[in-house]
Amino acid sequence: MSEFVVVSDPRPAVRLIALNRPEKKNALTRAMYDALAIALRAADADSTVRVVCLTGSGDAFTAGNDIADFRSGPPPISNEVGPGGFIAAVAGMEKPVIAAVNGLAVGIGTTILLHCDLVYAAAGARFQLPFVNLGIVPEAGSSFILPGAFGRRRAAELCLFGEPVNAATAERWGLVNAVWPESELMDSVLERAEALAAKPARIVRLIKRLLMTPAASAQDRADEELRLLAEQLDAPEAKEAMQAFLERRRPDFSRFA
Ligand code: COA
Repeated sequence: MSEFVVVSDPRPAVRLIALNRPEKKNALTRAMYDALAIALRAADADSTVRVVCLTGSGDAFTAGNDIADFRSGPPPISNEVGPGGFIAAVAGMEKPVIAAVNGLAVGIGTTILLHCDLVYAAAGARFQLPFVNLGIVPEAGSSFILPGAFGRRRAAELCLFGEPVNAATAERWGLVNAVWPESELMDSVLERAEALAAKPARIVRLIKRLLMTPAASAQDRADEELRLLAEQLDAPEAKEAMQAFLERRRPDFSRFA
């Protein structure tokens, strides 16, 4: 594991992965992408982990791809290693991923957020897709996701000018869920993560998959949901939830993986 990626478990069932190259604003090198992909896949495979959080050390989330690395040659065209490996690891996570954007989120610092389930930001965070100004093109599927998620006008504003947008604008656009003062960000994110970790983990993963997977039509999805509902009503999580309601107690989902 690279010293530039720090992994910890700050709350029960919550895995925190922090970019740790603060003197370079957490700019991402090839080795860091690989370490991140390994840490993410390990978290997804670890039965003690229910929620994964991603953040940056110091005052930046990340200043994006290390520019010196870019100059040493193009990244590998791969879903296993390099930036493609990191993007595929986040996009392929079965468990929910929460981003805590503690400061600047440049380039992949912003595009990776499109693959996270929840994004919380510090009030001073800034989001920027500077690709056009570097003479390159957006990555991580962002030129496909942004217009659909935020509208073509906003996607064009972000990608064609490459100017930073502040946290308030990002919240208004729906790029982030909520904005907190910087001093409260990490505690608030870990509180959200712990709340999510207390929910039935398999059902969380199931709902995440539904939210991430396109359906041919709303009717197709409604049919699939009805089938799933019938299955899940018979599963132990729903039995525990309904029993707890009848017994006027909080449900305990901790024994279900
Ligand atoms: N790649 C490599 N090094 C980077 C970097 C990057 N993407 N972003 C910042 N750094 C380095 C700086 O070179 C500087 O190193 P030094 O102290 O050895 O000179 C250090 O990180 C601090 O950055 P600095 O520019 O002094 O901080 P700042 O607060 O004034 O500005 C940024 C921060 C992120 C706005 C500015 O560094 C920047 O524009 N970086 C490039 C962002 C970018 O284009 N990323 C590529 C996206 S595809």
